Amino acid sequence: MSTPDTWTAVDRYLVDTLVDEDATLALARESADDTTAGHIEVAPNQGAFLALLAQMIGARRILEFGTLAGYSTIWLARATGVDGHVDTLELEEQNAEIARANFKRAGVFDRVDVHVAPAAQTAAELIERSVEPYDLVFIDADKPNNPVYLAAAMELTHPGSVIVIDNVVRNGSVVDAGSEDPSAQGTRAVLAAAAADPRLSATALQTVGSKGWDGFALLLRVG
Ligand code: DHB
Ligand code: MG
Repeated sequence: MSTPDTWTAVDRYLVDTLVDEDATLALARESADDTTAGHIEVAPNQGAFLALLAQMIGARRILEFGTLAGYSTIWLARATGVDGHVDTLELEEQNAEIARANFKRAGVFDRVDVHVAPAAQTAAELIERSVEPYDLVFIDADKPNNPVYLAAAMELTHPGSVIVIDNVVRNGSVVDAGSEDPSAQGTRAVLAAAAADPRLSATALQTVGSKGWDGFALLLRVG
């Protein structure tokens, strides 16, 4: 019988076998201890997955909703190469400060901007400024605002851009249409919006591992 313990053991095996998490990434992961939200960063094999995805599409510009300690940000920033740029949106200055220290240690400080404000507000400002479109968007902030973040992402991307939405399963809570959990409702709403948008081709996958039972949605802008 598989249990969360066996999922974690398999994640450990996969990470040990395949994933090159260097000392600065490990420190960044550990530094989440000191953030306002604790350890909700992506697992190392998920970070590597995001980085591979960015490399596969040759992403040069990346937008991230939800920085925390910057663990996924480092994976993404390294994947963009030295000419790349990541804008990462964070509500809490305490977390941004931790993230900036991690970016310095990881050698990506010069290619990452941490924007400290409500993410919806920063995204609106980026739209207002008509910034160059992003090639990849990772939506991993407060889940009730997921539909707002997807709408903003559609203003900030181009056909061919990829959008990843984290935590779309959350122990199965997503199937409860009557859920009073605003995170479950935010996720249901964003998946419905993705499905209804003819500019998007989408799927979602369930995952198990060191982060429990969860999943992510993968969206491609086809128009
Ligand atoms: C939570 C948020 C996340 O982004 C995540 O990956 C796991 C958990 C949370 O808010 O509980
Ligand atoms: Mg997440």
